[in-house]
Amino acid sequence: MAKDPVRVLVTGAAGQIGYALVPMIARGVMLGPDQPVILHMLDIPPAAESLNGVKMELVDAAFPLLKGVVATTDVVEACTGVNIAVMVGGFPRKEGMERKDVMSKNVSIYKSQASALEKHAAANCKVLVVANPANTNALILKEYAPSIPEKNISALTRLDHNRALGQISERLNVQVSDVKNVIIWGNHSSTQYPDVNHATVNTPAGEKPVRELVSDDAWLNGEFISTVQQRGAAIIKARKLSSALSAASAACDHIRDWVLGTPQGTFVSMGVYSDGSYNVPAGLIYSFPVTTSNGEWKIVQGLSIDEFSRKKLDLTAEELSEEKTLAYSCLS
Ligand SMILES: NC(=O)c1ccc[n+]([C@@H]2O[C@H](COP(=O)([O-])OP(=O)(O)OC[C@H]3O[C@@H](n4cnc5c(N)ncnc54)[C@H](O)[C@@H]3O)[C@@H](O)[C@H]2O)c1
Repeated sequence: MAKDPVRVLVTGAAGQIGYALVPMIARGVMLGPDQPVILHMLDIPPAAESLNGVKMELVDAAFPLLKGVVATTDVVEACTGVNIAVMVGGFPRKEGMERKDVMSKNVSIYKSQASALEKHAAANCKVLVVANPANTNALILKEYAPSIPEKNISALTRLDHNRALGQISERLNVQVSDVKNVIIWGNHSSTQYPDVNHATVNTPAGEKPVRELVSDDAWLNGEFISTVQQRGAAIIKARKLSSALSAASAACDHIRDWVLGTPQGTFVSMGVYSDGSYNVPAGLIYSFPVTTSNGEWKIVQGLSIDEFSRKKLDLTAEELSEEKTLAYSCLS
């Protein structure tokens, strides 16, 4: 029997990530090739015409899984009945703007969208925040949607996770699908800590630690980390636009694994509400290694953290605490 359609909200759908993301969702990349979807697309009034153009293209693409499209600038209409919400819309930092001004704009967007989701989304709606500052926007959303359980609110660090897999695969000249269990700790920002201490590669001789195969700690503790941390800036430099297809693909990976589960023995990185694991302050949205099953994530416990890693975990936590303070100061 055919499954009931799942309603997926994409905010900022007229933007460049939105344009890459909605066809992926409509093709089944996010929820599987047998899962019909109804797309809810939200943008702001200045982008309404362009949003309508995206809707026209979705119709023209004749996706068999796409059972309906809601394209609107009305946040209540957009949020009504949604099972999954991918929050891509936000206020970008423009030249000359203070960090506090950008934070203030995003805090007010996420506060109002949180209320709309809380009142109008389907029960058990899962939320993924992509828009920057992603971790802190997710925290604000959590605060202003108290009836949405905190386990249902997450931030995207899967792009960073995938970038780390990509760098290791290139360095070792192995298939990216043979590399697993890298970790992104902390903030989706340049303080994030890409950690390979538990990562492995599937080789003809069995599973081997990445550190052993790379056999170059200076590279792993230096250039590898900064390449992953700075990859967003490198893409902007090359494309004159920020990452879009890789961000859209990562958003699909994030939701797919969350809903359908991670393979046995594999973990992925998600920005989730900290419960104090690994001595990360509770109450931050922090990227951890997680496994998922039955639609629920669990932080991987018991991984050893060496002194080098400890410092990096703490540094990115400090930045998130500062962002949290700044965000709260924008509320008053
Ligand atoms: N977490 C990650 O890994 C990651 C990766 C890349 C980009 N990003 C972030 O994702 C966001 C989107 O990137 P993009 O390249 O698509 O930007 P973009 O500027 O092309 O698109 C953003 C869209 O959001 C819309 N928007 C603005 N305010 C809105 C609101 N209140 N409600 C609904 N829509 C609204 C804009 O009109 C625009 O269409 C940015 O914040 C970017 O920094 C995050």
